[in-house]
Amino acid sequence: MFLVTGATGLLGSRIVRLLRQARLDVRALVRPGSEYFWLNDSGCTYFFGDLRDPKSLRRAARGTRFVVHAAGIRVESTDNHHSVVTLKGTQDLIEAARERGVERFVLISAIGVERNVPNPWFDCLRQAEEHLAASEIASTVVRCAPFAEDLAESARGLARGEPWRVWASPDAIVQPLARKDAALVAMASLDLPPQTLELAGPDRMTLREAVEQACAAAGADADAVEWMTSVALMAKLARVGGRRWENWIGRQKHLYGDELVADLPKAIAVLGIPLTPYSDAIRSHLAGEPLGQDPDDRNEKVVHRQFQATVYKAGAIPYDDLPLGPLREDDA
Ligand SMILES: NC(=O)c1ccc[n+]([C@@H]2O[C@H](COP(=O)([O-])OP(=O)(O)OC[C@H]3O[C@@H](n4cnc5c(N)ncnc54)[C@H](OP(=O)(O)O)[C@@H]3O)[C@@H](O)[C@H]2O)c1
Repeated sequence: MFLVTGATGLLGSRIVRLLRQARLDVRALVRPGSEYFWLNDSGCTYFFGDLRDPKSLRRAARGTRFVVHAAGIRVESTDNHHSVVTLKGTQDLIEAARERGVERFVLISAIGVERNVPNPWFDCLRQAEEHLAASEIASTVVRCAPFAEDLAESARGLARGEPWRVWASPDAIVQPLARKDAALVAMASLDLPPQTLELAGPDRMTLREAVEQACAAAGADADAVEWMTSVALMAKLARVGGRRWENWIGRQKHLYGDELVADLPKAIAVLGIPLTPYSDAIRSHLAGEPLGQDPDDRNEKVVHRQFQATVYKAGAIPYDDLPLGPLREDDA
């Protein structure tokens, strides 16, 4: 049994589906209130819990051999922020896994965490990695480069008339990663010895080129992108916006501006996973529904495009297309 956290998220949902395609049993940790129904057709089972509730994590980890921890926070909210979720929640999950004798723990982290960047997201991820290393559970850490889909999503917003402010220099070098590839590597890494993998996309370019490509694919005007490169202005705006935006801007600044690139890891060469070109990653993301960014807007906006894609009207789907149910004894 696999326990997958962040199963309702963009990366976690891909991991759930990949594992289910391989006909493996998956227990998805979902928060009460998460939009999880669209995972019904994957045949995973649900466990209602929260990274802020250690008891729920101990229960969720019961009887699991593998934990894939893909939950994370994009924009913090007052009660769901990096110290309680990214750090404390991950530490509690690691402890729950240790208590339950989990064989392998896969942690989704970020390239650049080891550099002691003064930002809560990087800082909490680094401390979470350290906690995992000290726990002596066999583990794989998949450190990801910035995800390509997030650039595509911002470009789509720009095409709709929303502002796109990029908090880093246009000349910074980036290597955007498709979530699909991160999910594949997270899964394939289970066959490899415990290790830390640094993962980035196959195309290395300047941030300006990445932004322009995303704009072209989304039909947005790249000249309308606002490059927020003045450190003084950045700091001022961040303060005006409050702590969570200060953290978010800081995260963007380091994620896109710190040249977080990686050589193709050994795992990819060994497993032969072809990495998705940046242009394909943005195109396939833009073919889906738009995403909401702000957790406080979750009641007003569609947060996950998959939710729309897999809502069935009663009686509208033919029998043969009915969702794959949980694995049975006689399944191949
Ligand atoms: N964005 C990047 O460029 C980047 C780069 C490197 C690494 N990463 C890491 O990659 C991972 C996946 O990112 P993503 O953007 O694909 O994720 P995402 O779509 O933002 O999904 C986040 C998931 O975490 C869950 N979550 C949030 N708070 C939780 C809590 N208190 N308890 C349990 N679950 C909680 C969310 O559940 P709900 O559905 O209930 O909200 C959702 O399923 C994250 O760990 C992130 O730090 C991201």
